[in-house]
Amino acid sequence: MVAVDISKILAGYNKKKISIATLGSHSALNIFKGAKEEGLRTVCVCIKGQEKVYKYFDLADEFIYVEKFHDILNKETQEKLVEHNSIVVPHGSFNAYINQDEMENKFKLPLFGNRTLLRWEVSREKQHEWLSTAGLKVPRIYHNIDEIEGKLAFVKFPGAKGGKGYFVVDSAKAYEKKIKDMLERKLITKEDAEHPYVQEYIVGVSVYPHYFYSPLKNEIELLGIDKRYESSVDGIFRIPVPELLGQKINPSFTVVGNFPMVARESLLNEIIRMGERISQQAKKIAPPGCIGPFCLETIVTENLDIIAFEISARIVAGCNAHIGGNPYTYLKYSEPMYMGKRIAREVKNAIKKETIEDVVT
Ligand SMILES: Nc1ncnc2c1ncn2[C@@H]1O[C@H](COP(=O)(O)OP(=O)(O)OP(=O)(O)O)[C@@H](O)[C@H]1O
Ligand SMILES: [Mg+2]
Repeated sequence: MVAVDISKILAGYNKKKISIATLGSHSALNIFKGAKEEGLRTVCVCIKGQEKVYKYFDLADEFIYVEKFHDILNKETQEKLVEHNSIVVPHGSFNAYINQDEMENKFKLPLFGNRTLLRWEVSREKQHEWLSTAGLKVPRIYHNIDEIEGKLAFVKFPGAKGGKGYFVVDSAKAYEKKIKDMLERKLITKEDAEHPYVQEYIVGVSVYPHYFYSPLKNEIELLGIDKRYESSVDGIFRIPVPELLGQKINPSFTVVGNFPMVARESLLNEIIRMGERISQQAKKIAPPGCIGPFCLETIVTENLDIIAFEISARIVAGCNAHIGGNPYTYLKYSEPMYMGKRIAREVKNAIKKETIEDVVT
């Protein structure tokens, strides 16, 4: 239950001088650029020494320096944010550095998005529940290692580790061997090994759509699709096969970057429908449901089935491949549009209509 009273803080804001604020990392450039393009001010909560990129692109009107990102919870940091009439836009670094209880009880700024929904994305079990109750196709979960016999399974560990220590196996025997190997190589901890999350391995290609739900228009928008460039799994096949066969390489999935992509047109009906179902289900599991960005990680099989294996209730780094726009936003807007700008536009429209409370929690 969210314990923060946002209405009181909003009541004290000068609505003519609203700032968009976020932590200086992940997708801050996207968020700031969008805010500037929509005529809003920007505030960067930045770790001292990491301001270079935001100064280089000249996107932050104000810097609030902190020693570590967790310090955004400090009283004086929050007071400075309030002084700037800040609407805070959460991204991946918020999940990484601020836990959910702190987010719901200690962070007293208006947040663009639904705080309660953020809790649904930090647990794989809850994500799976959200995706499956929304009616999306999801990978099978193996609760017992013996069930995988002869099938390909993907073994993951708690927290978003960017694929570190994850592996693929086809039997209980191979599983025991790989767990041992991962522990020896210190890619996982003993505690990780006690909490494996074993999913059916989906053979196909990754397709990661980005959506925006506008509470003002009551509509889902498809703002882009990306795919990821992951090390070392995307590099491994550059090794000639004879040499590769002799190596003991466990490919990892550390994200290095993202490619923008367009999906085959016949997939788009389903991709849009999936976004609608997710947002309808979000209204049930965490009222008022989605606010602004949410993104899926899917694999599309050779039968063109779209299997969703992960969801984020916020902007994802893949949206950064679309700063300036892409074919989907051009089709819809006939002007440069992208996640950061779409967020800022929603904030601007909400201020104009005096309904800012509908887009923040
Ligand atoms: N069930 C699956 N079948 C096949 N490949 C998968 C499956 N699940 C994940 N992958 C691949 O492994 C990568 C990492 O998995 P996943 O996204 O679940 O990890 P993560 O720790 O949540 O990482 P991140 O936070 O960076 O998204 C994915 O980007 C995808 O390429
Ligand atoms: Mg993922």
